[in-house]
Amino acid sequence: MAKTGETGMRVLFVTSEIAPLIKTGGLADVSAALPAQLHAMGVDVRVLLPGYAQVLKLHPALDQVARVAGLPGEPEVNLLQGTLPDGVPFWVIDCPEMYQRGGGIYQDEHGQDWPDNALRFGLLSRVAALLGSAATPLAWRPEVVHCNDWQSALAPAYLHFAEGAAPCVMTVHNLAFQGIFPSAVVPELGLPWDCFKPEGVEFYGNLSFLKAGLFYARHITTVSPSYAEEIQQDELGFGLQGLLASRRGVLTGILNGIDNSEWNPAADPHIAQPYSAANMSGKAACKLALQKHMGLQADRDIPLLGMVSRFTQQKGLDVVLEVAPQLLRLPVQLVFLGSGDVEIQRKVLDLAHHHPGQVGAYVGFDEGLSHQIEAGADMFLMPSRFEPCGLNQMYSQRYGTPPLVHATGGLKDSVVDCNATSLARGDATGFVLEELTPAALLKTLQRAVAVFQDKAVWATLQRNGMHRNFGWEESAAAYLKIYSALLRV
Ligand code: ADP
Ligand code: GLC
Repeated sequence: MAKTGETGMRVLFVTSEIAPLIKTGGLADVSAALPAQLHAMGVDVRVLLPGYAQVLKLHPALDQVARVAGLPGEPEVNLLQGTLPDGVPFWVIDCPEMYQRGGGIYQDEHGQDWPDNALRFGLLSRVAALLGSAATPLAWRPEVVHCNDWQSALAPAYLHFAEGAAPCVMTVHNLAFQGIFPSAVVPELGLPWDCFKPEGVEFYGNLSFLKAGLFYARHITTVSPSYAEEIQQDELGFGLQGLLASRRGVLTGILNGIDNSEWNPAADPHIAQPYSAANMSGKAACKLALQKHMGLQADRDIPLLGMVSRFTQQKGLDVVLEVAPQLLRLPVQLVFLGSGDVEIQRKVLDLAHHHPGQVGAYVGFDEGLSHQIEAGADMFLMPSRFEPCGLNQMYSQRYGTPPLVHATGGLKDSVVDCNATSLARGDATGFVLEELTPAALLKTLQRAVAVFQDKAVWATLQRNGMHRNFGWEESAAAYLKIYSALLRV
């Protein structure tokens, strides 16, 4: 990436996951791409994350840069330093008893949250706040601390009580996850009881990490303009709508970008054959390769619908499964990749089992396969109940795989429904479902399959999507503007 300007501003970006080191969802992609773009724009950005076993395995020889205070009564922890592929320096907190274990980063191998998550992510937040205050042992001191989701959301509270604290930006990637714990952890985390009140970190008798962040941060952002409005309403506010509405003056929705080099059908090492808007022949090869890989009948003409998703209530998979019997009669082929809710996993695998050759499913996490589905499918399904931003619908537009989405959050902000008006305007890129019900989903799927039969219109949809620029430049500039405004007051 070329340097587009030298600002030299020092920013500490705090996150619980970052691609390609450790990823469970879109937060990891954003944590990699946004700092990389800021770095390219001349910002002196550094990333802080926990020293998970997976990260230290990939980087076994990181340099130790300091010892920093841990949680109250606990020993100091080491801070290790490395450099990300795009040149951004990162620090990991080396605390083996908290971060080096089997299972997932938030949950154990049975899908249960780790019982000490309050302490694990309390430590992340506390170290972030330490580095952002006068007490830091490092020579480098951030001018802005940028926290992401509940795992680092206590940092603004710690910073509120610290000497020489940097201002804090709190980004909400998903309000459904708040980090709520019994009040007993308040002293273990070294938080003063003084802040355990409704105008502070208390939430219905418990401690809420995310509420702390939303209350104490100087600026709040979320990952799309529509979601910024939705979280101020009862339906999607998850109990925090009042607080968010009261802070609307400092709440900004900034649509995520995508990493155009990582997600590029013309140079994607994971896919069968490269292709571009100018030469789409490789896409047919990708479709055949995907059909073969997933055990589907090799058929060029049947519409192949793909889904890559965490299997949760949020993603609307239950509605897709409900209409599957009618959908499969259209006919179409279906491919699923995902993991999560055990019941959804079972239903998806059952569907594949009962429709051999027509439905393929893989339960697990597979980065390569996610690219192969984006490239090989004809259409991408993403009827999420709510979606703060969503990245796959943007990846799929870039891969000439028109998405079918529900009109919510970032999906609404990034997909233009195919209809006479948008086709005439020249900006139709997919299919937008106004209401998420089985009947409406089926109707929209029927409409999409009918458009698929019209080769000329379909090619227009693909081209429009492939020509859209979802790069990070504009969004990173919007973050930079917020950082700069904080430094001016
Ligand atoms: P969310 O963060 O809510 O899961 P996003 O659409 O923002 O949703 O991002 C999801 C990211 O995780 C995408 O990069 C997607 O490809 C990836 N992903 C989700 N599930 C899987 C999986 N099972 N295997 C590989 N990648 C996955
Ligand atoms: C969250 C949201 C998703 C968003 C991602 C990155 O996981 O569910 O919509 O794209 O974070 O911001």
